[in-house]
Amino acid sequence: LGPHRPTDPRPGTLEILAEDRETSARSCRLWTGHGPVETPCFMPVGTYGAVKGVLPDELRAVGSQVVLANAYHLSHRPGAERVGEVGGIHAFMHWPGPILTDSGGYQVFSLRSLQKIDDAGVDYRTHFDGSPARMTPRSVLEAEASIGPDICMILDHCPPGDGGGASDAARRAILREAMDRTTLWAQEAARLRREILRDDQLCFAIVQGGTDLELRREHLETLAALDFDGLALGGLSVGEPIPQMHATLEAIAPLMPRDKPRYVMGIGTPSDLLAAIRAGVDMFDCVIPSRHARNGQLISFLGRFNIRNGRFRRDDRPVDPSCGCPVCARFSRAYLRHLHVHNDPLYVRLATMHNLYFFHEWVAVQRRAIRQGNFGAVAAALARVLEDRTQ
Ligand code: GUN
Ligand code: ZN
Repeated sequence: LGPHRPTDPRPGTLEILAEDRETSARSCRLWTGHGPVETPCFMPVGTYGAVKGVLPDELRAVGSQVVLANAYHLSHRPGAERVGEVGGIHAFMHWPGPILTDSGGYQVFSLRSLQKIDDAGVDYRTHFDGSPARMTPRSVLEAEASIGPDICMILDHCPPGDGGGASDAARRAILREAMDRTTLWAQEAARLRREILRDDQLCFAIVQGGTDLELRREHLETLAALDFDGLALGGLSVGEPIPQMHATLEAIAPLMPRDKPRYVMGIGTPSDLLAAIRAGVDMFDCVIPSRHARNGQLISFLGRFNIRNGRFRRDDRPVDPSCGCPVCARFSRAYLRHLHVHNDPLYVRLATMHNLYFFHEWVAVQRRAIRQGNFGAVAAALARVLEDRTQ
């Protein structure tokens, strides 16, 4: 990990290392301005430039390759310019590897903050102090130029997945409107990116369209024709039924350009990740491992349990005896429960490290299988693990 070396392939280069014969699963190496990313890759969420409670070295130790931050949050606290003044996000958070920033499109469209939206941008109230602010395709790219991530997501419009209780026709109209606006913003971002971003910053567009396959195909085709280094599927896991979400992944991910990285935003559970990898997705991010850890939920090949449960009081076993993480090597369930009960910040650090290790391992097992040519058998075994786990 570290800055780009002159002998490295140009940032944005995607080496396709293996493709599964039976499914759409594939394994690649994506080159960024801060080194390579082996895919499929799960990205932990560090909204403000920190995965809560965990040091960069510890993230490395549990298998993190890319950290996700949010240009919207950083633009308000401490300010995008401020991050630039102190040397950019890599120096600021002391993470030497690749960093991706989401645009904040997702946050602004939460009902609470949204004020007014038009074809040029969106007016919103910040969720910090309610003060008015505006976001445009240009303002997002400018913030990302100052913050300095390796991969920049553009402004998009992500509508709720449950349609907010609207009828089918009204729902489709909402999806269509959000999608068309996202196209206008993507066209603007594609025009501006070479002027605003550094040459070694990659820029990804976000496909919307909900679980409507016709809309998804249309939007994918439109965005694939523009000047972007990769494409993401947004608007998933936003309230729609899970089987519909998986069906959308299965139908749409394989249609995404083969020669560019494919990213699905905001997923997911171990089962979501299995479905996405099978469909040919390269990258994912989700708050589940880190947020669940803070709430006491520990996730492993055994399933998910709440560490606060009284049955762990005298349990001197690690969270998962088969887990290779630095936490399971040293600490017992009884000790983690004790730390959690006493609100010790050490609990958050240890629990987050364990959960992230499990998510990285869940994906790494599949990455190795794709590269070794036995993804089908491994995916079937993982599906059985999911059935047997206690939820
Ligand atoms: N994170 C999860 N889903 C989305 C989405 O649709 N758009 C953006 N910008 N971020 C997301
Ligand atoms: Zn562990």
